[in-house]
Amino acid sequence: MILVTGANGNVGREVVKELQRLHCEFKLSTHRKNTDHIYLDFEDPSSIRPALQGIKKLFLIRPPHLADKKYFEPVIEAAKEVGIEQIVFLSLLGAEKNKIVPHAKIEDLIIQSRIPYTFLRPSFFMQNLLTQHGDELLNEQIIFVPAGQGKTSFIDVRDIGVVAAKALTESGHRFKAYSLTGKEALSYYDVARLLTKHLQKEIRYTNPSILAFWRKMRKKGLKRDFIIVMIGIYTTAKLGLAKTVTNELKELLGREPITMEEFIKDNLEAFMIGFYSR
Ligand SMILES: NC(=O)c1ccc[n+]([C@@H]2O[C@H](COP(=O)([O-])OP(=O)(O)OC[C@H]3O[C@@H](n4cnc5c(N)ncnc54)[C@H](OP(=O)(O)O)[C@@H]3O)[C@@H](O)[C@H]2O)c1
Repeated sequence: MILVTGANGNVGREVVKELQRLHCEFKLSTHRKNTDHIYLDFEDPSSIRPALQGIKKLFLIRPPHLADKKYFEPVIEAAKEVGIEQIVFLSLLGAEKNKIVPHAKIEDLIIQSRIPYTFLRPSFFMQNLLTQHGDELLNEQIIFVPAGQGKTSFIDVRDIGVVAAKALTESGHRFKAYSLTGKEALSYYDVARLLTKHLQKEIRYTNPSILAFWRKMRKKGLKRDFIIVMIGIYTTAKLGLAKTVTNELKELLGREPITMEEFIKDNLEAFMIGFYSR
């Protein structure tokens, strides 16, 4: 039996779709009480052991607001105790080289537990354009991120869902780590050009300064910590550190990864009316 955590999120939702398509048996967990799904809250250690009873494989995500590894120690300990046979963990591109990010610390915990693992280390999600930046795109026809001319090897979360389901259901993925990227690295100027072409209205990339970005995000009511994380991510792109392109996604999928242009075309309505149903 497979348990999918973060099943309502960007990636978990795609993992669920793919497992359904493959007619696999699986369960979903949520940190919301009183739903039909299994209750598992990383902030409530008492919820963890009961949630893992009878589970053999775990798709584990780190909710973006939980940075401390203390939230994940109980789940990995419990996984060991109940005999989980594999953890497929949604990590981050470059986590193996950047020991500061929470994903690296969680990877280390999993390695130390000796539970067979598959680490999925994806690049930046295309879907962020709709989720985190959808407001500016819709209301002001701009992309407002401080990433300079830097390029990013964007990935579509639908492709991550397919790979996660493969890792959970096929043999040969234990003790492996996959660096997953799209097949091309694009700047936000490139993305703005593609959006302009398909939305039939001009979309501009304004390339704001960090200060201008900070002020606008604060005005929108975003929390300081969250803005700092975003600035870190876009500065990484600005410095040219997010442009790595690997072949691993293509090899795992057995086809080309979804391109930014395909992603835009598949989500025209969401870009036009600002409603992203996923
Ligand atoms: N965005 C990117 O470009 C990018 C790139 C690479 C890696 N990542 C990594 O991907 C992860 C985020 O994945 P995502 O975008 O799919 O997540 P997401 O859409 O933000 O969803 C987070 C999920 O976590 C669950 N959740 C929230 N609080 C919880 C708690 N206390 N205990 C248990 N579950 C909880 C939520 O479901 P319920 O409310 O139902 O519990 C929700 O489904 C992060 O670790 C991020 O660093 C992101």
